[in-house]
Amino acid sequence: MNNYKQLFPLLTILLLLLVACSRASADHDAEPHGHDDEPGAGHIHAEAPTEFVSLINPYADDHEAAEAGELIFQTNCVTCHGAEGAGDGPAAASLNPKPASLADGMMMGTLSDGYLFWRVSKGGQMAPFNSTMPAWELALTEEQRWL
Ligand code: HEC
Repeated sequence: MNNYKQLFPLLTILLLLLVACSRASADHDAEPHGHDDEPGAGHIHAEAPTEFVSLINPYADDHEAAEAGELIFQTNCVTCHGAEGAGDGPAAASLNPKPASLADGMMMGTLSDGYLFWRVSKGGQMAPFNSTMPAWELALTEEQRWL
């Protein structure tokens, strides 16, 4: 992709957001948030299973890890979550529920490392999410899912 260099700083910030919420609380409302007509709106959160709740990202603040995570995101996540993680990838329009906006710093700040690792590992093919979010535990290694 030829505009990759331009996107890079934005995506690094996104990935840092993804890995930088270790101090966030593990409480999540089960209510959809945002407005239904916005990308990334309408998805829900739930309590992560106990084996995930207290996990802390071992790669937080690791700059090289953020770069590797950036590449993983470009390869695997942009079709749905969009190049900037805003939930507006090319496949997003046809999905219900819509892909979450991972660029929403307010929301991401409330989500714990354990919650995000759980969601990336197990995906959305289960209650209460019932979404197309893929489970990445088979495709990506544990290290790749943390990045
Ligand atoms: C086929 C489309 C699709 C792809 C590809 C995809 N996702 Fe998702 N993702 C979704 C949808 C739809 C949701 C919202 C529904 C849900 O929470 O399950 C979601 C939700 C999430 C959430 C939960 C956000 C929240 O607020 O609870 C995270 C984290 C996430 N995705 C990360 C990723 C990462 C990282 C990748 C790449 C490794 C990825 N997704 C690839 C469709 C996708």
